[in-house]
Amino acid sequence: MKITFFECKDYEKKRYCAELKEHTINCTSSILTAQTLKDYRDSEVISVFIRSTLDKKNLAQFPNLRLIVTRSTGFDHIDLEECQKRKVAVTNVPFYGENTVAEHAFALILSLSRNIHKSYVRTLKDDFTIEDLQGFDLKGKILGVIGTGHIGSHVIKMAKGFGMEVLAYDKYPDSLRADVLQFKYVPLEELLKESDIVTIHMTLTPETRHFINEESLRQMKKGAILVNTARGDIVDTDALYKALKDKHLGGAGLDVIEGEELIKEEHELLYKTGNPEKLRTLFQDKAIFKMDNVVFTPHNAFNSREAVNRIMDTTIENILSFCKGKIINQIK
Ligand code: NAI
Repeated sequence: MKITFFECKDYEKKRYCAELKEHTINCTSSILTAQTLKDYRDSEVISVFIRSTLDKKNLAQFPNLRLIVTRSTGFDHIDLEECQKRKVAVTNVPFYGENTVAEHAFALILSLSRNIHKSYVRTLKDDFTIEDLQGFDLKGKILGVIGTGHIGSHVIKMAKGFGMEVLAYDKYPDSLRADVLQFKYVPLEELLKESDIVTIHMTLTPETRHFINEESLRQMKKGAILVNTARGDIVDTDALYKALKDKHLGGAGLDVIEGEELIKEEHELLYKTGNPEKLRTLFQDKAIFKMDNVVFTPHNAFNSREAVNRIMDTTIENILSFCKGKIINQIK
């Protein structure tokens, strides 16, 4: 098989080349775009991470393609309908980082609740004063969890360890899980109104784009904190910027943000295309990062040593199994 790995780091390349040595392997650090795919058009298997877009136009460039192996849980970067039409199977890594991403969500929450980010910057300046650094306890606070799948469930377990009360919202509630983990499903409006911290762990789909918007942010308690480690597009950046600027929100912990891909393409955007809508999002993202009640990490929640090893294990299993005629971890 001709297998091409896009967005591939050196440590990944080493392992994929060793464990898939019977195949023809290409590894490139490039994101899959209309330009970069040109050298790999004869690929039968393509593996991508989250920044490559496999839309109708790009898919049409791979006449021999039979399998897409995304090295992520999320698959919003792949046009599944078009893949189905083209009889291209799509697999993902369904379980590599439930605890990993949940731990990161708590890193963001604790950073904001105890002003860790502000303290760090202050001590770098040899300033050991504690004025304005007073935080708040998590114990006794209400955590609103949107999306109670693998990651959301881990977040709930951790929240219980901190002595928090948990309210949850999911399109497909799991009452057994609620009984076992001792949390309560409530309508979205109630979750937004009651929670001191709201954390997002739902899938990004066309239906959930801008799920958190001006109206939902207005429904949140004044001074509440919003945490997003799921996908940037779930939160309307315009509305988030306003809610933070107006101090309706007390803070935001973000591992993802709408338009995060633009930050990497900044030079091109500013000096070549000048696309006004994209530029606006980029400037708004930057304004959000500069707010002192915002903690931002660059889509890094997945990135623990253990999780990355699990991604590589599953990616190799997905490919080897396909080669033996059995598709595992297929997204339908
Ligand atoms: P999961 O599939 O186990 O859980 C997603 C939950 O969202 C499910 O319970 C589902 O019912 C719910 N959901 C779907 N549509 C909904 C809707 N319209 N309204 C309410 N709930 C809805 O996925 P998992 O493993 O928990 O991951 C969640 C998300 O986290 C992924 O989709 C991915 O985008 C993101 N993620 C981010 C990472 C990072 O590095 N920042 C790493 C891994 C995942």
